[in-house]
Amino acid sequence: SIKAIRASIMDIARVVDKPEDIEQNVRFIEDGLMLVENGRIEWVGEWEEGKDKIPSTVRIRSYPGKIVMPGFVDTHIHYPQAEMVGAYGEQLLEWLNNYTFPTEARYKDKDYSREMSRFFIKQLLRNGTTSALVFGTVHPESVDALFEEAEKINMRMIAGKVMMDRNAPEYLLDTPDIGYNQTKELIERWHKRGRLLYAITPRFAPTSSPEQLAMAGRLKEEYPDTYVHTHLCENKDEIAWVKELFPEQDGYLDVYHHHGLTGPKSVFAHCIHLEDEEWDCLHETDSAVAFCPTSNLYLGSGLFKLQEAWKRKVKVGMGTDIGAGTTFNMLQTLNEAYKVMQLQQHRLSAFEAFYLATLGGAKSLSLDHLIGNFEVGKEADFVIIDPCSTPLQQLRYDSSKDLPEKLFMLMTLGDDRSIYRTYVDGRLVYERG
Ligand code: GUN
Ligand code: FE
Repeated sequence: SIKAIRASIMDIARVVDKPEDIEQNVRFIEDGLMLVENGRIEWVGEWEEGKDKIPSTVRIRSYPGKIVMPGFVDTHIHYPQAEMVGAYGEQLLEWLNNYTFPTEARYKDKDYSREMSRFFIKQLLRNGTTSALVFGTVHPESVDALFEEAEKINMRMIAGKVMMDRNAPEYLLDTPDIGYNQTKELIERWHKRGRLLYAITPRFAPTSSPEQLAMAGRLKEEYPDTYVHTHLCENKDEIAWVKELFPEQDGYLDVYHHHGLTGPKSVFAHCIHLEDEEWDCLHETDSAVAFCPTSNLYLGSGLFKLQEAWKRKVKVGMGTDIGAGTTFNMLQTLNEAYKVMQLQQHRLSAFEAFYLATLGGAKSLSLDHLIGNFEVGKEADFVIIDPCSTPLQQLRYDSSKDLPEKLFMLMTLGDDRSIYRTYVDGRLVYERG
């Protein structure tokens, strides 16, 4: 089935390795046409140039004043933590013990997991996020439920069961063998089924024994095209603890690297307090970082050094990190990223911000050949953005503003009301009420 969408169109043409190169690769078509067929981008260009290509039987979906953008890519989020966003008063380690672990216990129940998976996917879509790299809980049921729901709309989702065998309550622990077997089964069942992909997911170094990390490494060796998803250098107490637990390793990242868990499909959330050698290792292994500004501010973890990542040529995507992060919304996440950079005397541009939320995120997930912009043949995941959805935006909006200003207002003032429509796999999956 062919769909014809008429609106302004914006995307970024190619992956870059310095932020100065983004602007010249921004494509903006004021009166654009996008043709979609069988879940793929068929054609993108000027309305005038393309309108004769539309078969006469196809209804034109016209969105005047709206902007079509690639769907947002969330490179780090915990679906079981949606119900605990806004837990009061703690930094990482106490937050995990007091709030997170008791919450995650509920996902032993498949029906509960299913109910919360539905809620979770709805929230992604109403916020314009069409791809995500997602933590489940230690229970394989949690991941089965999430994948089953994502499969219903053929969403591009990467997820995994948490592996953790120590330093957490008994009711949330697996063992090296159980974690291995359950992960293996899930990989066999889900990895590359439709658009679904599996991530081997040791929670973080403190909650896995060396034996379990070795098992995770073995899985990665047996299934080299799966992902690895974990946390790294988020909080100073956490880092000190890792150094105590793994005295024989050369720092936090080396714990993962030693076990074969770095690489082009490895995503490390946070990376706030990296040492020089750790930046080098991320670069050399082509590993990616998930920048999670709302979480890093909320838990008081610190300020991510985005400029250092560019300088070191380390891939970065945006993560909401629900539930330490406080919003599913990528615009609000970019707004917080801007402030994190302000505190470091750097002005994050709107182009750079939208790059990170789309094509940069896709690159971080090694999916930039499939998603992240509107290259012909790519998967048709996109959002129709309303740049003027609130009274304040209407007051501030002026059609003479140039594109960077319009986009900057969108990321500063936008929220879920800015998401007018969301399409996944070429199909309409969310309409603003
Ligand atoms: N480190 C280990 N587990 C977690 C988690 O659930 N959230 C965050 N933000 N950091 C973690
Ligand atoms: Fe996290």
